[in-house]
Amino acid sequence: MRTIAITNQKGGSGKTTTAVNLAGALAEQGGKVLVLDLDPQGNASRWLGTPSDGKRMLSVLSRESPLADVVVPTSIDGVHVAPGGAWLASAERALAGEVGAELALKEALASLDGMSWDFVLVDTPPTLGLLTISALVACDEVLAPVEASSLAIVGVGDLVRTVERVRDRLNPRLRWLGVVATRVDSRTNVSREVVALIRTRFGSDAFDTIVRESVRFKEAPSHQVWMGEYDAHGVGHRDYRSLATEVRARRAA
Ligand SMILES: Nc1ncnc2c1ncn2[C@@H]1O[C@H](COP(=O)(O)OP(=O)(O)OP(=O)(O)O)[C@@H](O)[C@H]1O
Ligand SMILES: [Mg+2]
Repeated sequence: MRTIAITNQKGGSGKTTTAVNLAGALAEQGGKVLVLDLDPQGNASRWLGTPSDGKRMLSVLSRESPLADVVVPTSIDGVHVAPGGAWLASAERALAGEVGAELALKEALASLDGMSWDFVLVDTPPTLGLLTISALVACDEVLAPVEASSLAIVGVGDLVRTVERVRDRLNPRLRWLGVVATRVDSRTNVSREVVALIRTRFGSDAFDTIVRESVRFKEAPSHQVWMGEYDAHGVGHRDYRSLATEVRARRAA
């Protein structure tokens, strides 16, 4: 079971879009995938057709419920979701004073080992609080989407430092799966520059795949279907298929 935290504290970088559509593409290629929604916004859960108040996910983080009880199927063959939602916004406060709160998700994921998932994709909120740290402690791999617009690349230094700190202090197994440029519009200088900067900065940790800008990504969530169903012949589906192929090729050490 490969565990992948999809993270970038910069809001709107494409984390949720990547979680949902990479999950679909990995499943299409034969994988069994669990999407774990750790974001109080609950966008991934809504997109996957399983909106939630997040109360049950919060009880998993409080060690009161087993994660397996929270998991539900989605309309995508091979994809399950552990939905999140607004209650998760109170995680920080609810778990304050609990020693080892950031380890609860790791224990919950360990309890899934032996079940049939090949990939767990954890969608994280755009903050560096307990929820994101829990994801980085629980997972072996980090995948960061970076929006190819002028300001987005600025926050990447923080992300790199966070990953290094979590690795040094809390989770020595943590490694980069890769950084992927999203919302790329190759007609613009800024998109080309961001793609080049990612390649310079991350070297072989940068994915060859780039995810292009497509208006379809804005439409699909309200239909509660992923790109493979909403626009199977479009660039969005093609790009996430290509990302899935790379993710499978980059096996965790
Ligand atoms: N490749 C793309 N082309 C066009 N629009 C995109 C693309 N990827 C994401 N978007 C749009 O950008 C916005 C942000 O995407 P998304 O919700 O996936 O980011 P996020 O990192 O999960 O945001 P948050 O930090 O709020 O959780 C959404 O409106 C989404 O539809
Ligand atoms: Mg999101």
